[in-house]
Amino acid sequence: MPRYFIGIDVSTTASKALVVDEQGNVIATKSYPHELSTPRPLWSEQDPQEWWKATSAALRDLMKAVRAEDIAAIGLTGQMHGLTALDGAGNPLRPAILWNDQRTAQECAQITERMGAQRLWQVTGSRMVEGFTAPKMLWLGSHEPDVYKQIKRVLLPKDYVRFKLSGAYVTDVADGSGFGVMDVAKRTWSDEAIAACGFPKAWMPDLCESPEVCARVSEAAAAETGLKAGTPIVGGAGDQPAGGVGNGIVERDQVSLTVGTSGVAFASNTSYNPHPEGLLHTFCHAIPGTWFSMGVMLSAAGGMRWFHDALAGGMSYDELNQKVAGVPRGASGLIFAPYLTGERHPHFDSLARGAFVGLTLRHEMPHMARAVMEGVAFGMRDLLELLRGQGIKPTEAVVSGGAANSPIWRQILTDVMGIPLYTVNTAEGGALGAAILAAVGAGTFPDVPTACRAIVRKESYTYPDPKAVADYEHLYPIFRGVYGTLKGTFSALAGFEG
Ligand code: XUL
Repeated sequence: MPRYFIGIDVSTTASKALVVDEQGNVIATKSYPHELSTPRPLWSEQDPQEWWKATSAALRDLMKAVRAEDIAAIGLTGQMHGLTALDGAGNPLRPAILWNDQRTAQECAQITERMGAQRLWQVTGSRMVEGFTAPKMLWLGSHEPDVYKQIKRVLLPKDYVRFKLSGAYVTDVADGSGFGVMDVAKRTWSDEAIAACGFPKAWMPDLCESPEVCARVSEAAAAETGLKAGTPIVGGAGDQPAGGVGNGIVERDQVSLTVGTSGVAFASNTSYNPHPEGLLHTFCHAIPGTWFSMGVMLSAAGGMRWFHDALAGGMSYDELNQKVAGVPRGASGLIFAPYLTGERHPHFDSLARGAFVGLTLRHEMPHMARAVMEGVAFGMRDLLELLRGQGIKPTEAVVSGGAANSPIWRQILTDVMGIPLYTVNTAEGGALGAAILAAVGAGTFPDVPTACRAIVRKESYTYPDPKAVADYEHLYPIFRGVYGTLKGTFSALAGFEG
């Protein structure tokens, strides 16, 4: 009898479900999109019921391709940090407030002041940032008190889907770290951080390790999805740690660069070693007894999508890539600041904005496209430098996300990082990571690193070109200066916009 595992990914753009076999081969995959709503400047929201509608539809489709009794376990992953506030019956009280929502600068400052900055970073592994879940809870308390009064439970996006699948209120320690109120060293909720936020601990989900079975498919969910009631569900992990598993980043000094809508530099670690100034997120990894550090750019390949849609005049991405290849390095003196949706690392500035610096009459659309690719690559380099500053010593890195599919952009990234970049055989990233966690939970593998060694293989390498590395080493400090120069202008513009 075959044994299959399901990985579910509740991302910002879609809910995807896939089935893999014991060798990690993808047998079937299905996904349905979500709407994103940005009702006000800085806001980013989604209807949690859409996550369930999309996930249950994807599962129903999958269950036409495989037999429910062959599914040995299910793992979940998804966008991190989103606040899903529920009433006593588990109904969402308002749209979920997402990871890229930027409304909570004041609440972050409040929590930091109450707990003390150093103490906060040491306990929770990071500065408090707008995207985290905890400051959103404070925001609800002061801006929507009627909603706040009715809250009985809060969940992260993938955990709301778990709740719909099983009735359990559980999160895993890797996603739970992104609430901003965990004692990350001890892998538990921090009473001290929760007290600084002022909400009841009873609202928080139970915590489990990522490969641990923590729930089972309910009769009601079985009837709705075609799954078998009682199928085990493991903790899973947020999209970044699950993507780390899917990319095989499970040992110290292994690094991944994910250049998707957002950009993430991610490294796993065998001890809890938060950045001394809280400049990275250091969270529990999806492997028990290990941690990871990551730096996050809020707009990475998302910046290229914006450029393509707004300025590339209907050109295909392939044509755009060809045009970029014809532009010299440095885009003839043009730099792009990639902060289209504010920035998390390294600037912690929700008011930062995108900018082209150095435009002349010589510049045409392809120069601007190259500058966007280079600006995003420099932003990723900022993240890599933060990891290096924390003692991580990468000699190579795995690259994934939309940018990895463009040969020219992959070369630019390699030359800007100055180390070889490789891709892996597994294109499914977080969803595959979630399925791997399920396979470990079901006992097919003894632990996550063993599963990764069996399933994830390095595929194609891109090597740095020494001449290009030298050129970019020259340009990188100039890029680094742009944010500092424009910071005041960004905040004045935000003031003008109100
Ligand atoms: C990680 C983060 C994003 C989201 C969206 O901290 O905010 O990567 O998880 O995918």
